[in-house]
Amino acid sequence: MIIAPSILTADFTALDQELKKIETADYVHIDIMDGHFVPNISFGPSITNQINKISKLKLDVHLMVTHPLFWIEKFNFSQVEFITVHVESIDYEKAIDSIKSAGKKVGISIKPGTQVDSIKNILNQVDLVLVMTVEPGFGGQSFMPEMMRKVKELVLLRKAKALNFMIEVDGGVSDKTIDICKLAGVDMAVAGSFVFNHQNPKKAIEVLK
Ligand code: DX5
Ligand code: ZN
Repeated sequence: MIIAPSILTADFTALDQELKKIETADYVHIDIMDGHFVPNISFGPSITNQINKISKLKLDVHLMVTHPLFWIEKFNFSQVEFITVHVESIDYEKAIDSIKSAGKKVGISIKPGTQVDSIKNILNQVDLVLVMTVEPGFGGQSFMPEMMRKVKELVLLRKAKALNFMIEVDGGVSDKTIDICKLAGVDMAVAGSFVFNHQNPKKAIEVLK
């Protein structure tokens, strides 16, 4: 399993040390919240730029914003590999084109209430599908196992259409829920509180992997 710890739950007054704790992971997951698309504000391009400088890991940027098109260029940092936008956001199709123009891989995300049907027609344009396993906005919420139905549907669609996007889950991932993800066919898992609240984050990453 590819593991992307979400920096959202880290101690931002000790970013350097926090990033060292997760250096054995595959990506740093960057949760960007605008206080409008979700009822919370996280951080923006300048902190992301600092993470880009301090960490050696690739960055997985998750835009939980109403107007992704406005933000994409601002997150065009060297180590950013994926930029994910929500299908529920405004002008997400233009945003997909803009991510491609920036030379980054494209992710599309669906909230718990959104079905796979809403992204069926764009699956051939994306490198990653992010299935939210909590309502976006906050770390530390409970995993929604019923979302695995969407993961299984995506696995089937990927095969039927001969595509090769990755399937990622985000929210409530821990040692208790990772097996369900694996079984459903998830390729990449985001984990915030399980990793950063663990007394040994490297151990937590190893367990999830
Ligand atoms: C939720 C965020 C998640 C969150 C995951 O809106 O997108 O990335 O930080 O945190 P945990 O693992 O604590 O659910
Ligand atoms: Zn996220």
